Amino acid sequence: MSEKNMDTAFFGQPRGLSTLFFTEMWERFSYYGMRAILLFYMYYAVTKGGLGMDQTTAASVMSIYGSLVYLSSVAGGWLSDRVWGPRRTVFIGGVLIMLGHIVLALPMGIGALYVSIALIVAGTGLLKPNVSDMVGGLYSEDDRRRDAGFSMFVFGINLGSAIAPWAVPWASEGFGLHLFGDHFNFHAGFSLAAVGMFLGLLQYYYGGKKYLPQTGLEPTDPIKKKDLNKIMGRVGLGVLALVIVIAIMAMVGQLNIDNIITLITILAIAIPVYYFVLMLRSPKVSKVERSRVWAYIPLFIAAAIFWGIEESGSVVLALFAEQRTVLHIGGWHFAAANFQTLNPVFIMILTPFFVWLWENWKNQPSAPSKFAAGLVFAGLSYVWMALPGTLYGTSGRVSPFWLVGSWFIVEIAEMLISPIGLSVTTKLAPKAFKSQMVSMWFLADATGQAVNSQIVKYYSSATEVPYFLAIGIVSVFVGIVMFFFSKKIHSLMAGVN
Ligand code: GLN
Ligand code: ALA
Repeated sequence: MSEKNMDTAFFGQPRGLSTLFFTEMWERFSYYGMRAILLFYMYYAVTKGGLGMDQTTAASVMSIYGSLVYLSSVAGGWLSDRVWGPRRTVFIGGVLIMLGHIVLALPMGIGALYVSIALIVAGTGLLKPNVSDMVGGLYSEDDRRRDAGFSMFVFGINLGSAIAPWAVPWASEGFGLHLFGDHFNFHAGFSLAAVGMFLGLLQYYYGGKKYLPQTGLEPTDPIKKKDLNKIMGRVGLGVLALVIVIAIMAMVGQLNIDNIITLITILAIAIPVYYFVLMLRSPKVSKVERSRVWAYIPLFIAAAIFWGIEESGSVVLALFAEQRTVLHIGGWHFAAANFQTLNPVFIMILTPFFVWLWENWKNQPSAPSKFAAGLVFAGLSYVWMALPGTLYGTSGRVSPFWLVGSWFIVEIAEMLISPIGLSVTTKLAPKAFKSQMVSMWFLADATGQAVNSQIVKYYSSATEVPYFLAIGIVSVFVGIVMFFFSKKIHSLMAGVN
């Protein structure tokens, strides 16, 4: 037994897992707590404690923000591999995230919102991919506890994500004490998010010193002196290109939030395309590996569509909760923001069932077929949401069980796509592109949300029926097409299951 395999201090897992579990639990607490109230903070009138932004712009900002958070993970993975090593990278990320929430906790206007977004995008990019990477690093290759360790880690993600949509809105309503009358004080909510990240950082700092491997303090592939100029040149060129584009936009009087969102949407589509071309053309990629990259393209597209629908839960479904849903069941009253708990709660409920299913189903479908089924479910969760408007019209409020049903259906899709996608991504990765390929998995989410940022502009209560129906049918249709091609895709995967 290697030394790594002998540490069983945390429920049979290495003690370091507890440090990473709580770090990520608190980070997700702060992120999803913030997101549960952010949409309302943006478009509520100033008199109600909001910023009074236009609702359509607010929805668009929510989506592009969600996209940027995962786009930046590409840079975060790179900085860890080549500059700081994962341990420092995660810490720096956590500090930036906490600062981002603090900025929103202060009673400042729209400028503070954008500063906060920038800090949290950078911070999450540094923290999120590397904290997951460190979980893998706790185990030696032959350690059988690896999968169970990852499952526990994912449980931590969902635990933080499930508690936050209760705690953070509760803070913004005055901690149950009616501190702010019938107004909201969103800043109190954002303060709680900041406190959450602070607690995560505190235990990461002290726990990390004791329980995380020293190797994480060094980059795995440090930049060599001779490469430094080339890299700085490339980064400089990228920044310059961006500055030029923005300057041109300003000169022709087109530098506004809508156009910046469109620019980011284009980037979020162009970056994965660039990576695919790079991998397909690289001489470091063997013939078999190239075939696997081809197989990954349809999986990536399916994942992007799925995440587009899943992530719209904090945008479109949040609007539906606020404007079209009865916010009590009998005498039990709740806030629109509380609905955000349903996604992680259903994940925690459904996970044991799916773990059992995959362990016991002998001739189970291939990953492409599971993805296809996932798209069908994701689409159905939207088709389902077209029903209340069709049945009762779109002017009144409907039972909260419509939303509960929709989240239940989309979480079946998440079970069929998210864990399977992550594992198949690592298996399909060409050797020379291992960490970039994990970034690709997060990029699928980024691309999905970037496309969302354009589509959500068409959503309102008046358009909800055609909106849900059209997107739902597209997803179901792509899922069915994928079923027909799943054999072909599976054969391109060249032995990977
Ligand atoms: N809900 C997931 C998380 O917070 C989303 C990440 C992903 O896989 N795209 O970890
Ligand atoms: N759905 C969020 C995630 O996948 C909570 O973990």
